[in-house]
Amino acid sequence: MAQNARLDKEYIMHAPQRGEALVCLTAYTTPVAKALDPHCDLLLVGDSLGMVVYGMDNTLGVSLEMMINHGKAVMRGVKHAFVVVDMPYGSYETDADLAVKNARRVMDETGCDAIKIEGGSEMLDIYQALADASIPTLAHIGLKPQSVEKEGGYKIKGKSDDEGLSLLTDAQLIEKTGVIAIVIEGTIESVARRIVDGVSVPTIGIGASAACAGQILVSDDMLGLFTDHVPKFVKQYAQLAQNIDEAAAAYAREVRARDFPADAHIYKRAS
Ligand code: KIV
Repeated sequence: MAQNARLDKEYIMHAPQRGEALVCLTAYTTPVAKALDPHCDLLLVGDSLGMVVYGMDNTLGVSLEMMINHGKAVMRGVKHAFVVVDMPYGSYETDADLAVKNARRVMDETGCDAIKIEGGSEMLDIYQALADASIPTLAHIGLKPQSVEKEGGYKIKGKSDDEGLSLLTDAQLIEKTGVIAIVIEGTIESVARRIVDGVSVPTIGIGASAACAGQILVSDDMLGLFTDHVPKFVKQYAQLAQNIDEAAAAYAREVRARDFPADAHIYKRAS
């Protein structure tokens, strides 16, 4: 597909049939979305922004307004990728009507292509209500960051046979509601493989092995910008935190030495 044509739902949904790996990253701002867009099939405005942009301890304090504002910012930078916006904690999980109302608001106000919610088969009524309202939806199963308090931490899922089977059942039930794709976070390779083989929609893995039809990482993790905690599944392709530190140190040195601004940076009367 041409780099300047926006990818659509069909393109994302048929990735497994084409045998192509979906390249996905998170984005939260216009300049980063612009830089990532030519390389990615899908950009997720993840509620991980609570931690990597706002310095919160987890994603639970992220609001719908924050997601809408960052969704708008990302949409301003995108010409190519399919854009998904996360529904934040408290905006969808207790009430199907509220889920549809808030998801519609996110879609209308940002102009994004789809939304994502976290949850397994306990959320089937919500997935179904979103599908019935024609809201393109991605599912997020396995390790669900919005359940961190309920679960007492971030725990890898599917280590026991029962848990692995229940993840597979979740994926198959959710698929029937008509989701576009299923994000699988934090599970062991054999369970990810069974889910991939057991559904026909694309699976997008994060800490879920190479078995998945696509991969997603939090861009601040893979760019080496968020370094508070680097999970095992993250590969750093750049060291931006270190680059910023070096750039700030060089700037401070030059300002203190009165080497900056130099002649080239100073406005003068035309001669
Ligand atoms: O919020 C997020 O960034 C996510 C990814 C980890 C998939 O949900």
